[in-house]
Amino acid sequence: MRFDGKIAIVTGAGSGFGEAIATRFAREGARVVVADLNEENGRRVVSAIAREGGAARFFRADVSRSVDVKAMIDDAVSGFGGLDILVNNAGFSHRITALWELPEEEYERVFATNVRGVYLGCKYAVPVMKARGGGVIVNTASIGAVAPRPGVTAYNATKGAVLTLTRGLAVEVAPFRIRVNAVNPVAAETGFMKTATGLDKLPDELRKQLVTTIPLGRLTEPRDVAAAVLFLASDEAEFLTGVCLPVDGGRSI
Ligand SMILES: NC(=O)c1ccc[n+]([C@@H]2O[C@H](COP(=O)([O-])OP(=O)(O)OC[C@H]3O[C@@H](n4cnc5c(N)ncnc54)[C@H](O)[C@@H]3O)[C@@H](O)[C@H]2O)c1
Repeated sequence: MRFDGKIAIVTGAGSGFGEAIATRFAREGARVVVADLNEENGRRVVSAIAREGGAARFFRADVSRSVDVKAMIDDAVSGFGGLDILVNNAGFSHRITALWELPEEEYERVFATNVRGVYLGCKYAVPVMKARGGGVIVNTASIGAVAPRPGVTAYNATKGAVLTLTRGLAVEVAPFRIRVNAVNPVAAETGFMKTATGLDKLPDELRKQLVTTIPLGRLTEPRDVAAAVLFLASDEAEFLTGVCLPVDGGRSI
């Protein structure tokens, strides 16, 4: 299997894209740390992986907190024996609103998780990967980073920061055989949408409107993101670093 013997951490793995990424890593042979703020969901994902015969452990981490992120990396090392792959996927959007209406605390909160969280993950993973002779980091950004639309301007700015961090770090750590890439998904009906819209279900009108902007005619499914992340993390992508891969059905064209 593609990831036999590999050890991966996936943040935000209790739901949506992260759940699909963690599940697929485990199916392809990796041992996976399922990291999330939400313990109930994280443990549910670990149990589902175990039922399929995969290896996973839950670690409760708030990625915006240095102490949590350091402990999360240590947990992969002490629990599984090292770290080969880190997927910095945890993130959310503030409620859809004009930038000038966004409360300052919401701006701080979204940057703390989406940007500081990625910085902390890289900060504590790189020394471990360096000592191991290599590794791969994949960051979940967003197509909104390169083609922003109204209402989520601060959120899109966090993802712009993630892309610049990805490309800059890729150059910094290339001498240590560490690759750093990102994926840019377009809209998906995950927990993310509930937070952004404040609604349990995406209204049909809004879904239709979103779909019309996507040439392939549908929203992102978690499996699309999982497939792209696993490819970037695999040896087949050994010459790819600093890549920001759209997973968007053509929306960014
Ligand atoms: N769904 C979309 O439309 C969309 C589009 C582009 C990019 N993204 C990005 O994809 C990533 C995954 O989102 P999703 O769509 O799967 O949403 P989701 O809400 O289903 O999953 C996000 C997970 O991250 C966890 N999380 C949130 N803040 C955290 C923190 N501080 N520490 C640890 N865990 C935390 C949540 O508990 C949740 O389990 C995010 O970075 C998001 O910005 C989502």
